[in-house]
Amino acid sequence: MTATSSKTSMSPANGANAANAANVGASTIGRLAGRVALVSGSSRGIGRGIAERFAREGACVAVTWHAREQAAQAVVESIEKEGGRAHALQLDVTVRASVRRAISATIERFGQLDVLVHNAGFLEQKPFATISDDDWDYTFAANLKSAFLFAQEIRPHFEARSKGNLIHLASVGGQTGGIKAPHYAAAKAGLISLTRSLAKLYAPFGVRVNAISPGFIATDMVADILTRESEDSILATIPLHRIGLPEDVAGAAVFLASGDADYVTGQVLNVNGGSYLG
Ligand SMILES: NC(=O)c1ccc[n+]([C@@H]2O[C@H](COP(=O)([O-])OP(=O)(O)OC[C@H]3O[C@@H](n4cnc5c(N)ncnc54)[C@H](OP(=O)(O)O)[C@@H]3O)[C@@H](O)[C@H]2O)c1
Repeated sequence: MTATSSKTSMSPANGANAANAANVGASTIGRLAGRVALVSGSSRGIGRGIAERFAREGACVAVTWHAREQAAQAVVESIEKEGGRAHALQLDVTVRASVRRAISATIERFGQLDVLVHNAGFLEQKPFATISDDDWDYTFAANLKSAFLFAQEIRPHFEARSKGNLIHLASVGGQTGGIKAPHYAAAKAGLISLTRSLAKLYAPFGVRVNAISPGFIATDMVADILTRESEDSILATIPLHRIGLPEDVAGAAVFLASGDADYVTGQVLNVNGGSYLG
C-alpha cells in the first residue's frame, strides 16, 4: 500500500493513543466535525461524492484507490482546497492484509477511525450461462467478502473505543434480484444480510452498522449501461424521473454517520428515486 498524501509508518489498528488523537482535524463545524472516516473506493463515483461531502461536514477522510492513484490524489486536493483534511491510500478490498494496512494507516495519520464506509464494489454484467467460476468468486470477493474483512479488522479499534460506525454500499439489485448480473445481485443480497448480522453482533460495544442501497446512480460503473439502454427506458422505472447522482447517496451517508442516526442500526436506506419500495 502506498500513502500518497504523506508518508506514515504503520501501526496496529488498536494502537491509537492520546498523541495520535491530536491529529484529528481542527474543524468544529459540520455534522461530522471531529470525526475520521475511511471511504473505500473513493477515487471516483459514489465514494468520491461521499468523501468530499464528509470533508465538507468536518470529517478527516482517508480516500482510497485501487488502480487510479491520480484520481484519488485529485480528490484529496479538492478536499484540501476547500480547507478539509484528507489522505490517499492504495487499497485492494479483496486482500485482508491490504484492508488491515488501510485501517492502520488511517489511524496512524488521524489518530482514530470513527466511520468506515465500505463503498468499493465491482459490477460486470454477463449472461448467466457465461459467468465463470472466477467471475463469481471475484464478484463475491469485491462486494461481500470485503465487508467481512473490514468488519473483522476494524473490530479491535471500535471495541476499544466502545463506538464506531460501519456503512455498507449495497444495491437495489440485492433487493430485487437481477438477470443482467445475477452474481452481483447475489453478493449484494449477502451484504444486506451481513449488515443485519453485524448490527446485532456489534451493538453490544456501541457500534452501528447500516447499508445504503442505491438505485441507478450516474458513475463509471453504469456508464456502459447508459450507452446500451435508452435513458428513457431507465427513467421509466424511476418515479422521481431522474438518474441519481453521487451527491444523493452522500447525503444519506452523512445522515447514517451523524448523531442524527444514533438510534439507527441494521437498516437498509434506499436511495433509488422510488424505483424499489421495500
Ligand atoms: N452506480 C450505481 O448505479 C450503483 C448502484 C447500486 C450500488 N452501487 C454500489 O455503490 C458502490 C460505488 O459504486 P460506483 O458506481 O461509485 O463505482 P465505480 O464508479 O465503478 O467506482 C468504484 C470504486 O471502487 C474502487 N475499487 C474497485 N475495485 C476495487 C478493489 N478490488 N479494491 C479496492 N477498491 C476497488 C475503484 O478504484 P479505482 O478508481 O482505483 O479503480 C473506485 O474508486 C459500489 O459498491 C456499487 O456496487 C452503485
